[in-house]
Amino acid sequence: MKCTRCKKEALVKLKRHNAKFCGDCFEVFFSRQVESAIKRKNMFSEEEKVLVGVSGGKDSMSLWHYLKKAGYEVVAIHFDLGIEEHSQKSRQIVEEFARQNSFPLEIIEVKKEVGFSIPEIKKRIPYRPICSMCGLIKRYLLNFWAFREHFSVYATGHNLDDEAATLLGNVLHWQIDYLSHQHPTLPSPHPKMVKKVKPFYTLTEEEIMIYIRLHNIPFLEERCPLSRRAKSWDYKEALNFLEEKSPGTKHMFWLGFLETGQKYFRQEEPPLHLGECSICGMPTTQEVCSFCRLIQKVKEREEKYLDYNGGK
Ligand code: FES
Ligand code: ZN
Repeated sequence: MKCTRCKKEALVKLKRHNAKFCGDCFEVFFSRQVESAIKRKNMFSEEEKVLVGVSGGKDSMSLWHYLKKAGYEVVAIHFDLGIEEHSQKSRQIVEEFARQNSFPLEIIEVKKEVGFSIPEIKKRIPYRPICSMCGLIKRYLLNFWAFREHFSVYATGHNLDDEAATLLGNVLHWQIDYLSHQHPTLPSPHPKMVKKVKPFYTLTEEEIMIYIRLHNIPFLEERCPLSRRAKSWDYKEALNFLEEKSPGTKHMFWLGFLETGQKYFRQEEPPLHLGECSICGMPTTQEVCSFCRLIQKVKEREEKYLDYNGGK
């Protein structure tokens, strides 16, 4: 098998691009994908300071590694969710990687910030999917921290497979509002809201896996034990089934949506009137933001929970 670019011995085969690459040419391919995503979707400039959310998983670890290697000014932020062994392992990987490479890193302990760990929240509010509450908390804290520390942009490691699965979920439930907004760059709608970007939106999980192996980047392979029943995993499996039958399906679905399909879902929207939350002062369309409402609810349930369990 010969490399499509340089004709040396190829290491990897990318079916959807109908290409084979040696290690060096794969690097060129990878970096072109990311750099053109950053430029094409106006994510950030070389001078901007970027906050990167790192969970310890393969996507965020590779994004952190790539952006540092490419010379961007990056600070990583990791949330310790308090999910026992899983959180300890993720934190250890992230801290060790930062220490070995002298990369700046901030650790935010969710329990310290909001008074409860993620499993404690799940116990108090068992009827709501934990992943959506956890996502809300992480997004809020990430934005809050980025705003407070004067970052204008934060980046996450979402890849093409993640976005295609989200898109499938949005289509299956005809979530027109989400279909109108799903994008690799979400500009800031308010001075206290930081721009969010996904520089890996054109790269598949498989391609990120190759990058991580080529660079020997450590990462946590196991899934979060609380998200085992997340719908997005089913959507990914369904898309992988189709991809296997016809390579390029996920690419066509997600990137085709951005190029061609999304315009049909764009809604004429009245200007968004964002006020400030009466509790925390962060932007919201309601009197109290969804983060503060969730925390209030957890505290209410905490009192009931303690009564029920005799104060334990
Ligand atoms: Fe948030 Fe698992 S990472 S629930
Ligand atoms: Zn609030």
